[in-house]
Amino acid sequence: MHVAIIMDGNGRWAMQRGLPRMAGHRAGARAVRKVVEAAVRSQVDTLTLYAFSADNWSRPRCEVDSLMRLFKQYLQSEAARCVEQNIRVNIIGRRDRLNAALVHLIEHTEAVTRHCTKLTLQIAIDYSGRDVIRRACLAIAGECMEAIERTASVSTDYVAEQIAQAMGASRCANVDLLIRTGGEKRLSDFLLWESAYAELVFVEHGWPEFSEADFEAALREFRRRDRRFGTVPSPTSQQEETA
Ligand code: IPE
Ligand code: IPE
Ligand code: MG
Repeated sequence: MHVAIIMDGNGRWAMQRGLPRMAGHRAGARAVRKVVEAAVRSQVDTLTLYAFSADNWSRPRCEVDSLMRLFKQYLQSEAARCVEQNIRVNIIGRRDRLNAALVHLIEHTEAVTRHCTKLTLQIAIDYSGRDVIRRACLAIAGECMEAIERTASVSTDYVAEQIAQAMGASRCANVDLLIRTGGEKRLSDFLLWESAYAELVFVEHGWPEFSEADFEAALREFRRRDRRFGTVPSPTSQQEETA
C-alpha cells in the first residue's frame, strides 16, 4: 500500500489567521509527525510526502530559504525518532540544487534508517514528475544508441525493458491512494508515472489542519472504491448495480 500526499494549503491556512506564510509551513511540519504515526498504525508500506516541488524555487527567496531551514530542522529532529519507530527515510527529487548541509543531513538520515522495515517514508524535495520521466528518457536513449551500435537494431521489447528499468531506478512504487489537502484538484507535477491508477482523495482544509482522523477517513474512502484497472467491475459491484 503506497499513500502519497500533496501537502498543500499551508500559506492560506496562515494568512486566514493573520500569520506569515512561514507560520503555516511550521504548522505543516508539525502535522507530518502525526500522519506518519497514523500511517504506521494503518500498516501502510510507503508514505510519500510532497514537501517542495521543482517549481517552488520560483517563490520569494526568503520563503524558499526558510523552507530549506525547516527541512534541515525536520531531518535533525526526526532521524532518531524514525530509527526508534523502525521507519526508513528516503528523499526523492534532485539533490544538485540543495545546499551541501541539507544534502549531508539527507544522506545521514537515509543511512541511519536504511535497515528499518516498518514504513518507508519518502519525502519529495525539489521533485518534478516530468523531470523524472525526462531523465529516464535520456537514459533509455543512451542505452538504445549503444544497443544499435552493437547489434544495428533494437526490438520494442528491448525498449520496453529499458523503460521499466529506467522508471524502476527512480525507486518509487505505484501509488494506490493520492491525497491532496488545501482544496485544489490537480497533480502539480507529483508522481505522474506512478499515479497512473491512483485513487484520488481531495481534502478541503489546509495541510496544517490535516489530522490522523482525516488520514483514516481517506483510507476508508479508498477501501470503498472499486479499482478496476481497465477491466469490468468486480462481481460484487455488478450485483449491487443490478440490484
Ligand atoms: C504547500 O503549501 C507547501 C509547499 C508548497 C512548500 P503552500 O505554500 O503551497 O500553501 P498555499 O497553497 O499557498 O496555501
Ligand atoms: C504543490 O503545491 C507542491 C507541494 C505541495 C510541495 P503548490 O502549491 O506548489 O502547487 P500549485 O502551484 O497550487 O499547483
Ligand atoms: Mg499551494
